[in-house]
Amino acid sequence: MATERTFAIIKPDAVKRGLTGEILSRIHKAGFSIIAIKSKWMSIGEAQGFYAVHKARPFFGELTQFMSSGKSVVMVLESENAIGKWRDTMGATDPAKAAPGTIRRDLGTSIQNNCTHGSDAPETAAFEIAYFFSGHELV
Ligand code: CMP
Repeated sequence: MATERTFAIIKPDAVKRGLTGEILSRIHKAGFSIIAIKSKWMSIGEAQGFYAVHKARPFFGELTQFMSSGKSVVMVLESENAIGKWRDTMGATDPAKAAPGTIRRDLGTSIQNNCTHGSDAPETAAFEIAYFFSGHELV
């Protein structure tokens, strides 16, 4: 399987609860290389642009308020099968439905406050990485 990059967020709920170190530790233990990382307080407009694919969903307003409510940690992760592997490490979107041992099951508190985000496909990863990182940050 080829080396791949994915985009990841430690969301404001997890940052506020002091879970950044725990989540970074899980990322290292899962075997990812962190290619780029920064702390980012999204504006409401940046959150709306990032989640534009969900614009028609009933939770869009709450989601974008939540994502602009404090600092996130945004990252580019690399490994073999990084997109699928990061989604497996996070677990299902709803923490109540996520498998034991996953980040969302162990640390998430609701379908919205689910601690982390990950790209769902190569095209999404390309869009999401470029949304927060410039080429010179990705060498
Ligand atoms: P994420 O993987 O970042 O993708 C979209 C986000 O919307 C999701 O995680 C949740 O934080 C949030 N969300 C809130 N309500 C729902 C819902 N009913 N279904 C899916 N995602 C939801």
